[in-house]
Amino acid sequence: MNPNVIKLHNLRFRWPGQAEDILHIPDMQIHQGEHLFIQGSSGSGKTTLLNIISGINCPNAGTVQVLDTALANLSTIQRDQFRVDHLGVIFQQFNLLPYLSLLENVQLPCWFSHKRKAQAGDEAALRLLDELQIPKHLVNKPVNALSVGQQQRVAVARALIGRPEIIIADEPTSALDTNNRNRFLELLFSEANQQGSTLVFVSHDPHIAQKFSRVIELSDINHAGETII
Ligand SMILES: Nc1ncnc2c1ncn2[C@@H]1O[C@H](COP(=O)(O)OP(=O)(O)O)[C@@H](O)[C@H]1O
Ligand SMILES: [Mg+2]
Repeated sequence: MNPNVIKLHNLRFRWPGQAEDILHIPDMQIHQGEHLFIQGSSGSGKTTLLNIISGINCPNAGTVQVLDTALANLSTIQRDQFRVDHLGVIFQQFNLLPYLSLLENVQLPCWFSHKRKAQAGDEAALRLLDELQIPKHLVNKPVNALSVGQQQRVAVARALIGRPEIIIADEPTSALDTNNRNRFLELLFSEANQQGSTLVFVSHDPHIAQKFSRVIELSDINHAGETII
């Protein structure tokens, strides 16, 4: 088993019509089980980098290897399937579906991934919600009545269900006060550890860096940064 679950090599990315790369990362490796924090200012390319790792955006040059699979060798449909099979994603705005119940929101990845469904088993969504201290009477209610803290926990449960190897988190704490932020991170770390998942977390907020096992400043590894204002 390769201890590097994510490997980028000579990666370059620019948006269509742009003259300059916004990302040029010669080398980056993310190891199995680590809690990696990638810090970068707003607009520095954090979301773009996560989207490249998840196969949503394709690089203009270089290779992206995730769990020993070179993403460039997959078709768009295969990449979509690979993503739902192996990556749990927590978005900045959580992206919960308002017309679905809490339980259905958590189960969503299992609807698209046999692998995650098989790994989750029948009771996983309920167990995760219970572990995350969501009251039982809420699980069949629509998500739009939830507090922000509850929405976060549902988003964490959805990312974790079916034990994906990699959890990707895009600034999920930016709207939180310090107490809620700390509680959210503890929850995320303990759940990721229980499952042996690798965590890749991006944020502009330097205050949370100390809680992670490894910290990268995006501008240190991104050589395109110098040419961008
Ligand atoms: N769909 C897009 N088309 C063109 N430019 C984009 C698009 N999305 C983001 N950008 C630009 O790419 C740069 C990096 O954006 P992003 O990855 O969202 O940064 P961050 O997540 O660090 O705030 C920014 O300059 C942004 O304006
Ligand atoms: Mg972003």
